[in-house]
Amino acid sequence: MKTIKKIFASKEEETIQLDMENLPRHIAIIMDGNGRWAKKRGLPRTAGHKAGIEALREVIKASSELKIGFLTLYAFSTENWKRPKEEVSALMKLLVYYLQKEVKELHKNNVRIRTIGNIGQLPEEAISQIGKAVDLTKNNKGLTVNIALNYGGRDEIIRAVRNICKENIEGNICIENIDEEKFSTYLDTGDSPDPDLLIRPSGELRTSNFLLWQLAYAEFWFSNIYWPDFNKKHLYTAIKDYQMRHRRFGGLK
Ligand code: FPP
Repeated sequence: MKTIKKIFASKEEETIQLDMENLPRHIAIIMDGNGRWAKKRGLPRTAGHKAGIEALREVIKASSELKIGFLTLYAFSTENWKRPKEEVSALMKLLVYYLQKEVKELHKNNVRIRTIGNIGQLPEEAISQIGKAVDLTKNNKGLTVNIALNYGGRDEIIRAVRNICKENIEGNICIENIDEEKFSTYLDTGDSPDPDLLIRPSGELRTSNFLLWQLAYAEFWFSNIYWPDFNKKHLYTAIKDYQMRHRRFGGLK
């Protein structure tokens, strides 16, 4: 029998019913629209990124309470370096501030923090804070949060191919033994299952180089709201819509 749970999505007691046996195991989110959110209010773009952190906090808490296994968040792409220096620097500072401020609470809630992407190119302070957060939370068994930083799906695939070639030259792997499962283990997401659900707010309808390999069979959920306005009600609605989809993985049923 289905375990249906009534979730209270707001103070106004709007309820959303979720099937607790059909939750996505892994949710990926493109946290988009911070800049437009700020512009609409006559604020600098960085104010939008700051407000985005509030949404991030709420979504991590709600996912953790639902016992979702994995959450992968697109925070900074390989292409985001093209933004003005001041914005890049503000984003890096926000990352450091966020980790410093939140890591204890995340740890208390059994959240495991990891990153995907080539973090070696981030500022030293960011690398150091990431290292501390990853280390502190590495044995936690609750929600795994993968933060995508200097991440690009194409870059990730190229790095995986290079590593495979290197191991092949060293005689550690035979090309014949590379199949989809094996290849996946060379990606940054390593042992995470593929996302079941991709959420992209802000009205854009594309993947923007996010998890190109891993999203092969994910269900996509788009919305016009800007990321800073995204709250747990939107998360529950996305999950509810996901539960209405018929996933066939290329088969018939
Ligand atoms: C996209 O919106 C958002 C980003 C490039 C950054 C996302 C960052 C955060 C939500 C906060 C910081 C994250 C962490 C993990 C501390 P945009 O700037 O492209 O918005 P626009 O399309 O409206 O311009």
